[in-house]
Amino acid sequence: MRVVVAPVSTFPDGERRIVEVGGRSIGVFRVGESFYGIRNRCPHQGGPLCLGHVLGDAVADAPGQARVSSDPLRIACPWHGWEYDLDSGQSFMGGAMAGVRSYGARIEPGGSLLDSLPARPTERVPGPYVAETFEVRVEDAYVVLEV
Ligand code: FES
Repeated sequence: MRVVVAPVSTFPDGERRIVEVGGRSIGVFRVGESFYGIRNRCPHQGGPLCLGHVLGDAVADAPGQARVSSDPLRIACPWHGWEYDLDSGQSFMGGAMAGVRSYGARIEPGGSLLDSLPARPTERVPGPYVAETFEVRVEDAYVVLEV
């Protein structure tokens, strides 16, 4: 199932959205031009994982040239600080600990989303009146979550 989260133009770099899909709370994150979806429930004790900080590793290619790497990105749970890979959901708190469910998130052109709309019912009988209609186009791009 695809879920439209937001138009890309309203989802700036570094922002997150938390959406409810089928009874699950899922966080969608934008980091640069990449999007990530991850369940908003920490496997440790059920904390609101997607309210935590997004972290990268501190790396330096040479002395005095330290920077924060965006590969891999982790999210730290706000309750006790357990960390998970933002892309895969992999836990970094010991091999026996379960990871968290991750979901694909990407940009799709608005026009492609029209193909996934449910078909209209065909059993209806047309009446004598016809309302004026107008062509509608979807021109923006949207962030879409695959669940
Ligand atoms: S509930 Fe997330 S680290 Fe404990």
